[in-house]
Amino acid sequence: MRINEIIVGDAFEELRQIPSNIAQSVIADPPYYNVLDEDWDTQWAESEEYLDWSLKWVSESMRILKDDGLFFCFGQLGKREHVFIHLMSFLCNYFQYHDLIIWDRAVGYNERGDSFTPAYEMVLVLRKADNPKFNKDAVREAYDSETIQKYLRDKRYKDKEARLKHLQAGKYSTNIIRVPSLKGSSNEKCGHPSQKPLDLIAKLIACSTDEGDIVLDPFLGSGTTAVAAASMGRNWIGIESNVEYVEIAKKRLEEIGMQLKFASLF
Ligand SMILES: C[S@@+](CC[C@H](N)C(=O)[O-])C[C@H]1O[C@@H](n2cnc3c(N)ncnc32)[C@H](O)[C@@H]1O
Repeated sequence: MRINEIIVGDAFEELRQIPSNIAQSVIADPPYYNVLDEDWDTQWAESEEYLDWSLKWVSESMRILKDDGLFFCFGQLGKREHVFIHLMSFLCNYFQYHDLIIWDRAVGYNERGDSFTPAYEMVLVLRKADNPKFNKDAVREAYDSETIQKYLRDKRYKDKEARLKHLQAGKYSTNIIRVPSLKGSSNEKCGHPSQKPLDLIAKLIACSTDEGDIVLDPFLGSGTTAVAAASMGRNWIGIESNVEYVEIAKKRLEEIGMQLKFASLF
């Protein structure tokens, strides 16, 4: 079984070759269906075909997921295209719903004159069984120093030292995750039209896995999941069918390989 090496091929065919119950989390950012003007996003004649295809690769991914693992699936809505709403409902007929995360992209996209500017994407989270692994402490968010000082003045808390320690640990993240989407000028941006920010993927990895665990990404694109996983001491399995994107991903992995000799990215 090839791990920590990109598998070039079709997601469904390649997933079928992977043993069961080995991945601690699946981070999938599949084609959205007619949202982007890219061949890989417009390859289905009807939304029913897309839903059938989705059920096939999701079923294989769930087979590969460990019993206490989590499955994350990104979905973006288009100007009026909304198949992801159907996909979420459809998949919940077959698998256990766990959560719906909102990725707050901070910056709007897909501008349109007759409605609010879209600024989020959704991440459907499914689980294989009850009580999945979830590292809540690994994704706490720091309070700024002003807030800490303000909360410390709260007279209800007599033990100031304990209170300070508690506040310095930060607060639990909500399921609205704000990470700015990558602008063209970003150093991270590498030429893939729907590249996800490393900080966002790192958060999903941190909450759902421990060091040494395997993260599976069936649609690796520019390699974001692999780069984040490797930087965080996780193993990864990544599949991508487009050879140009595979080259971009390999280059990104080579680059962090150099940095990792000195320090971890996260
Ligand atoms: C939304 S993008 C993933 C972007 C990725 N998360 C990143 O940060 O770069 C979806 C990817 O799925 C790939 N893809 C489309 N159909 C595929 C298939 N049948 N098997 C494997 N990869 C496929 C596309 O080439 C594209 O790179």
